[in-house]
Amino acid sequence: MKEKEIIEKLEDIEEQLRFYQQLGADFLVLPDRPAGGERPAGGLIGLKNEPENQIVQSGEWEKLLQRIKGCRFCPLFQGRTQAVPGEGNYQAKLMFVGEAPGRDEDLQGRPFVGRAGQLLTKIIEAMGFKRQEVYIANVVKCRPPENRTPRPDEVKACSIYLLSQIDLINPKVIVALGKIAAEFFLQANKSMSEIRGHFGQFKDIPVMPTFHPSYLVRNEGNREIKRLVWEDMKKVMKLLESS
Ligand code: URA
Repeated sequence: MKEKEIIEKLEDIEEQLRFYQQLGADFLVLPDRPAGGERPAGGLIGLKNEPENQIVQSGEWEKLLQRIKGCRFCPLFQGRTQAVPGEGNYQAKLMFVGEAPGRDEDLQGRPFVGRAGQLLTKIIEAMGFKRQEVYIANVVKCRPPENRTPRPDEVKACSIYLLSQIDLINPKVIVALGKIAAEFFLQANKSMSEIRGHFGQFKDIPVMPTFHPSYLVRNEGNREIKRLVWEDMKKVMKLLESS
């Protein structure tokens, strides 16, 4: 094996171990990244994270957020504390899309802030990003009662918002977290195990379906699921690096 290949392999292994550590594998003690050796969050893959590109409240965004916050397109508005439009970098190259807000999200008005959200943040950081450098949204913007799965009519009523967000951001890659998001983009009538790990396409944007972080939380001890998610995220990172 050539020196370059060995270094690449070692980097690969280190990334993977770091990922497991981020997900709570406390038994792993990894050295801090050497000064200057850290993957610049977003830098390596060219995320446009210059200050002038950060969270600019442009007119269009402002209008969209207000519409979402006041939406009454489906009955879910009746049960919400507040709608959860999404958050992050309006110029993000990488977008994560989940299912719908849960209890914590409904209370705070922010996506993925509960247990699954903390895990998602770790995944994002293991990929070399800061949370605020990507964009995080859900298919449905209001919490369904008892966190039930959103119904097709609710998904349809809400779809205009996610489509507008994707239009405005125009990300290079979308990660679809779980079945509802995967179905939204790929209309695949297959199980997550079958479709995860393979890029699909939504309006020319590559979409990587992977397991929902809540599924990882529910199967905390299952290393195989973690490994599969990390495999999927490596494909995403590779695509971003080459684009
Ligand atoms: N699950 C989701 O799908 N979205 C959230 O924002 C939180 C949990």
